Amino acid sequence: MSRIVYLNGTYLPEAEASVSVFDRGFLMADGVYEVVSVLDGKLIDFEGHMVRLKRSLSELQIANPLSDDEYLEAHRALLEKNGIGDGLVYLQVTRGNPGDRDFAYPAADVTPTVVMFTQSKPGLADNPAAKTGWRVIGVEDLRWGRRDIKTVQLLYPSMAKMEAKARGVDDAWMVEDGRVTEGTSNNAYIVKGGTIVTRELSNDILHGITRAAVLRFAAEAQMKVEERSFTIAEAQEADEAFVTSASAFVMPVVEIDGAKIGSGAPGPVAARLREIYIEESRKLGV
Ligand code: PDD
Repeated sequence: MSRIVYLNGTYLPEAEASVSVFDRGFLMADGVYEVVSVLDGKLIDFEGHMVRLKRSLSELQIANPLSDDEYLEAHRALLEKNGIGDGLVYLQVTRGNPGDRDFAYPAADVTPTVVMFTQSKPGLADNPAAKTGWRVIGVEDLRWGRRDIKTVQLLYPSMAKMEAKARGVDDAWMVEDGRVTEGTSNNAYIVKGGTIVTRELSNDILHGITRAAVLRFAAEAQMKVEERSFTIAEAQEADEAFVTSASAFVMPVVEIDGAKIGSGAPGPVAARLREIYIEESRKLGV
């Protein structure tokens, strides 16, 4: 079934939506994006994603073309038009089409391009992988230095994902100066002696919206959290490991570079955080 997508204020069948070859998103990956998950037709952590979108745009000096209410209205319209119960909404804003190629940013009268589309994922919260957990490998982090900006420049994470697939596992944890930064499209955590450890926020990682919510829920449940980096070796010695993202929620990790984590099965802390996150998200969704 063809989807209805959003392009610059218009809703149209996906086959009719097209963007200029001069769009800087296409030529230079000059654009940012957000992924908001949907459970029972409700948008999860929508406000947090809007805050990060505005920060990403402002770091790149791209004028924000819509208000939060307009983004919300478009998200809801797409869910309705595409009959989405569980799934996600992808939103991308690029610097737009200056009519030619130039390294310099164009004048302010070039309007940003806004694209949104849905992906249907029935039973998103019951992903069977959460019962068995992911296996990951460590790979060198060769991305640029502003990973706090959620740009559409995703080639290296894509290469790392392909390396993981080629080696028969689910994902890759990227490592810089010997320490884990994050997964290809998720934030990384270990648990040791009841303490949850995850890398501190900086330009080295994306400031995950799910990360913020999960750390808040962990604190509310009196769990101990340490924000610091860790090595692959430390992760292999941990009791548990997991990742978080808008599409995976809280996903246990059971093996790193061939070494089993703890018992080799998803651990209780990850399972509990996944349960709380999904339960609270269903309540707080808009
Ligand atoms: N990825 N780190 C990276 C590099 C990411 O790409 C993502 C999200 C995260 C988790 O952020 P959040 O909790 O806000 O989703 C961390 C999205 C889901 C994607 O690219 O599909």
